Amino acid sequence: MIFEQSKPLTGEVTVPGDKSISHRGIMLGAIAKGTTSITNFLKGADCLSTIACFRKMGIEIEEKGKEILVHGKGLHGLQAPDGILDAGNSGTTTRLISGILAGQNFSCELTGDASIQKRPMKRIITPLSLMGANIESIRGNDCAPLRIHGTSLKGIHYDSPVASAQVKSCILFAGMYADQKTSVTEPYLSRNHSELMLGSFGADIHTEGNTSVISPEPLLYGQEVAVPGDISSAAYFIAAALLIPSSELLIRNVGINPTRDGILRVCHKMGASIELLNKRIQCGEPVADLLVKHSPLKGTVIEGAIIPTLIDELPVIAVMAACAEGKTIIRDAQELKVKESNRLEILVHHLTAMGCDVTGTEDGMIIRGGRPLKGAVLESHLDHRIAMSFAVAGLVAEGETEILNADCVNISYPDFYRDLLQR
Ligand code: S3P
Repeated sequence: MIFEQSKPLTGEVTVPGDKSISHRGIMLGAIAKGTTSITNFLKGADCLSTIACFRKMGIEIEEKGKEILVHGKGLHGLQAPDGILDAGNSGTTTRLISGILAGQNFSCELTGDASIQKRPMKRIITPLSLMGANIESIRGNDCAPLRIHGTSLKGIHYDSPVASAQVKSCILFAGMYADQKTSVTEPYLSRNHSELMLGSFGADIHTEGNTSVISPEPLLYGQEVAVPGDISSAAYFIAAALLIPSSELLIRNVGINPTRDGILRVCHKMGASIELLNKRIQCGEPVADLLVKHSPLKGTVIEGAIIPTLIDELPVIAVMAACAEGKTIIRDAQELKVKESNRLEILVHHLTAMGCDVTGTEDGMIIRGGRPLKGAVLESHLDHRIAMSFAVAGLVAEGETEILNADCVNISYPDFYRDLLQR
């Protein structure tokens, strides 16, 4: 894909459904009793991997008009899959499904693409093993492929060393199959979509501070899940509208859950004009329309508790910081090294290639913003968020920016280029 400096972004855009909530709708729908109807489901490759895994375990999932219908079979209704479960590129599928698989009465193998086979799974193997699960990394490298022999589980308390919603959700899902309550404490609060959705499906789950506690053997019942637009997808439009002079863009129906809204808080600190209109609650999740106007931005410091609330947005925030006046410091973001790619390394490389003054650090980077970006040829490394972030950079840079292997955006936003270039 080739990008050039863009005219202002005006009018409206509606981004696709939230990836995290779409995954969880399928998973909880599958182990609930009765039918779950999901609207605005994200039909990106990651969520389709989750559907494929549950279909392989005997769950009927159909598309009916605008709905996805999941015909759940209850907590103990999954069947042994015939063949290996394939999570594709999806860390959420791999880690969350492992929590469910650990408590089944069958064994199976779970794997994914080359990127998934390099991502750390020890973070779920350790707590699941403490619960009595029988889970191993087949190659002994703490990565997928994983072999999981379902068994009876013990409820535990786990102090997670990482603020990761995938780790937390994996443990809470396994906790439904345990013999007593299971609790997880994380260093900072990560996204809480699992907790909210578990509650609405009927689980006994409570959160206090950074600790969530779930009771075993809940009676889950199918629900209607209306998925809000994904703030992680909205992030590219927020950034483009802020950066391109004279832009004024309305982004409709965006999830603004406080465990996900760090990008809005950082943008405000950088001097952005973003108005939250028509705030409402939809299926327990806060939602709003965002009116974003071009704004001169200034550098900021991003660290600590806010990091998990904007972890997937850091690549595009780094692009904004490159265009802002002054210094931006990003700290405590070492998790970026173990995403779909090593995002810290790639961000520093690509921003440098575009003429930005940036220094990588152990857990983040220092960006001295304000130099005009220059077009460059950039590899996506098959990472959707790298491709989309640098597409935005390409709309503000001088000259031409070429993104190689650009079609990886189908992971979370198949129509991204159409929506971005139609503005
Ligand atoms: C996700 C959690 C985050 C995020 C990922 C989706 C989820 O990962 O980066 O894109 O749906 O739970 P971590 O839990 O590894 O931080």
